[in-house]
Amino acid sequence: MDFGKIFPASRFLRNGSQSLLVILLSAMAALLLLASTPAAKTAATTPTFYRDVLPILQQHCQMCHRQGEIAPMPLVSYEQTRHWADAIREKVSTKKMPPWFADPAYGSFSDDPSLTPQQIATLSAWADAHAPAGDPHDAPPAPHWAQGWNISQPDVIVQMPKRVSIPVHGDVEYTYEIVPTGFSEDKWVQMSEVKPSSREHVHHAVVYIRPPDSEWLRSAPLGVPFTASSLQDEKLRREAHATTSDMLLVYAPGSSPDRWPDGMAKFVPAHSDLVFQMHYTTNGHAATDQTSVGIVFARQPPKQRVFTLQLANDHDVIPIPAGVENYRVEVHGTLPNDATLLSFFPHMHLRGKRFEYNIIHPDRGVETLLRVNYSFYWQLSYRLAEPRVLKAGTELQAVAWYDNSRNNRHNPDPASPVEWGDQTYNEMMVGFFDVAVPANTDKWHFFIRQQDHSGRQEDAH
Ligand code: HEC
Repeated sequence: MDFGKIFPASRFLRNGSQSLLVILLSAMAALLLLASTPAAKTAATTPTFYRDVLPILQQHCQMCHRQGEIAPMPLVSYEQTRHWADAIREKVSTKKMPPWFADPAYGSFSDDPSLTPQQIATLSAWADAHAPAGDPHDAPPAPHWAQGWNISQPDVIVQMPKRVSIPVHGDVEYTYEIVPTGFSEDKWVQMSEVKPSSREHVHHAVVYIRPPDSEWLRSAPLGVPFTASSLQDEKLRREAHATTSDMLLVYAPGSSPDRWPDGMAKFVPAHSDLVFQMHYTTNGHAATDQTSVGIVFARQPPKQRVFTLQLANDHDVIPIPAGVENYRVEVHGTLPNDATLLSFFPHMHLRGKRFEYNIIHPDRGVETLLRVNYSFYWQLSYRLAEPRVLKAGTELQAVAWYDNSRNNRHNPDPASPVEWGDQTYNEMMVGFFDVAVPANTDKWHFFIRQQDHSGRQEDAH
């Protein structure tokens, strides 16, 4: 078995069975307390919605808990929130909300929404006090949410032109739709967000960038949905499964949009197409979906270009044995050129238990960059608080653990071995990671290794 590879992420998710924010009690308040009557004491210490709770909700909850987003109820107004006070106390004190799965022992991440112990105490004390409203004049200004988006108002929205019908039951083969961008000049994308129209049915979406000189699926139809098996041509059918195209972004339920730091962006050459690769799952209700991607361009040409790469084992011939609780799979590869490591996005299916990204140092010491206690229902990205400059030749390792036993309450079939494959009852192991390289770096040149000591030129593949 050959795992010694880092792939451009474009090889991800191919078709086919083998593929793959502290409430500070001011000293003033404390002094007032000492001097005041018992009734005034209560008023000074009990958190109120407008003054104490709402700022926390705005910063840590409303990205999901507002109209049209993924959470079941909005937590925006007092009326909407008060009935949820006890549930909020329960979910925040057990750290189920906000969702975050990185082991705090490793790394720190700029997108970590976790509450501080003081914030948890504030929400709990508010619930204990029967959710007092307080004075609306204490409310912070309402955050500005672009209508329907978590990124700022998109410059361009690219929508799949035709709706895809999703049946009531059964597996749905990966569905593609190729959409011309119509960009007459090269574009740098600072932010992007995928917006499914039927969220319940979208297991993942990958949006690829197909430059005009790419032959990938060139003779496949434009602007209409198709699957690999619906293509007449055998060569086209195989092509659907494997591409060298770069990804604009990947979406899974709960995942956050891409927002690259200033000076970094994804590159979309003039006249590129976007290729939507949709994995729909059925749930007993027929539906149609018409996914869009919102794009915000960089205001200045960036200094660095972002590539999404992957450490993946999407082709293992050995199934995960039945009943095994801690099945370990490891992949590693060396970085072909210098790059700045930005973020991670681990992907597994229902048996996924834990996922780690490590650097193996020359003395074989293992440095863990991220450990995720994986949840299939919360596929999040994890962005390093401090991007990390890595030298060419750095050995990276991804390790995944699977629970194929009965103890895994999401396990659809603990009695059977699990094959590797696309559908959720199969397993996958893909460790996506994003790196930044100088803006003028061509993707394929990045994968050509520098001359090694023997003078041999080695290709990443
Ligand atoms: C990344 C999106 C996201 C964020 C951020 C988030 N939630 Fe949620 N929340 C959800 C989703 C989706 C559900 C429903 C599924 C579930 O319970 O796991 C949920 C469920 C809940 C529930 C339970 C609702 C019920 O039906 O019992 C509560 C209470 C809750 N969230 C409170 C919060 C609070 C308070 C915060 C911020 C401190 C927060 N959430 C942050 C997505 C989010």
